[in-house]
Amino acid sequence: MKKKLVILTGAGMSAESGISTFRDSDGLWEKYRVEDVATPEGFAANPQLVLDFYNQRRRELLTTKPNAGHIGLAELEKEFDVRIITQNIDNLHERAGSSQVIHLHGELMKACSVRDLETTYDLSPENPDIKIGDKDPQGVQLRPFIVWFGEAVPMIEPAIHWVEDCDIFVIIGTSLNVYPAAGLLNYVRRGQPIYLIDPKEVKAYRNDIHFIQKGASEGVKELTQLLLQNH
Ligand SMILES: NC(=O)c1ccc[n+]([C@@H]2O[C@H](COP(=O)([O-])OP(=O)(O)OC[C@H]3O[C@@H](n4cnc5c(N)ncnc54)[C@H](O)[C@@H]3O)[C@@H](O)[C@H]2O)c1
Repeated sequence: MKKKLVILTGAGMSAESGISTFRDSDGLWEKYRVEDVATPEGFAANPQLVLDFYNQRRRELLTTKPNAGHIGLAELEKEFDVRIITQNIDNLHERAGSSQVIHLHGELMKACSVRDLETTYDLSPENPDIKIGDKDPQGVQLRPFIVWFGEAVPMIEPAIHWVEDCDIFVIIGTSLNVYPAAGLLNYVRRGQPIYLIDPKEVKAYRNDIHFIQKGASEGVKELTQLLLQNH
C-alpha cells in the first residue's frame, strides 16, 4: 500500500505561477484592506467592490499556469497516496493533475448564493465574472465561493482526518498565520516526519520539522529526492 503523504499548501505555492501572496511586501494586502474585500461585512457594505476584486483575481488566474512545484506534487502520486489540503482558492493543483485536493478557503472558479454557502455553481473561463443581479435558481444573489474572515471553515473537518491519518506531512508556502489551517500541524502524530518548504523562515511551533529553505519549484524537487530516499 502506498504511504499517505498529506501536503498543506498556501499562497507561496502559487507565487512562481505569478499569483501574489498576501503577506509578502508586494502582496495583495498592500493594495486592498482585508476588511473591505475578504469579510461578509465588506461585501454587505460594497458588493460591487468585492465582486470586482474577485472578478479580477479570476481573470488573473485564467492567464496563469501550474508551476514545477504543482506538477512535482502531482507526479508524486506515482509513489505515494498524495492528499493536498490547500488554503489557495486557485485551481492550479487540479490543473497540474493532483487528484485529491481539499480547498479550505473556497474556490475562485465557483460561485454560491449569499444565503446558501454550500451549493456551488461553476464559473466558466468564457464567462468568469459574477455581477450584481446574477442569481441562483431560487432568485438569490450570487457571491464568490470564498471562505471570508469570520466565516466557518467546513472543510477543516475532513482535512483534520487526513492529517491525523498521514504517514508523512509536508507544508509548502504558508506563513502559518491563518487559523484554523495553521492548527492542522497539531494533528500530526508524534514521530511522523514533517517537511516544510519556504524561502523564508517560518515560525512553526514544533522542533521536529525538516526545513527546506527554497521556493516551491526547487523545494519540491529536493523533497521528492528525500522522500524517495527515506520512505
Ligand atoms: N493563490 C491563492 O489562491 C492565494 C493567493 C494569496 C492569498 N491566498 C489566501 O491568503 C491567505 C494567506 O495565508 P498563506 O499562509 O497562504 O499566505 P501568506 O501570504 O501568509 O504566506 C505566504 C508564504 O509563502 C512563502 N513564499 C513566498 N514565495 C514563495 C515561493 N516561491 N515558494 C514557496 N513559498 C513562498 C512566504 O515566505 C510566506 O511564508 C490564505 O487564507 C489563502 O487562502 C490565496
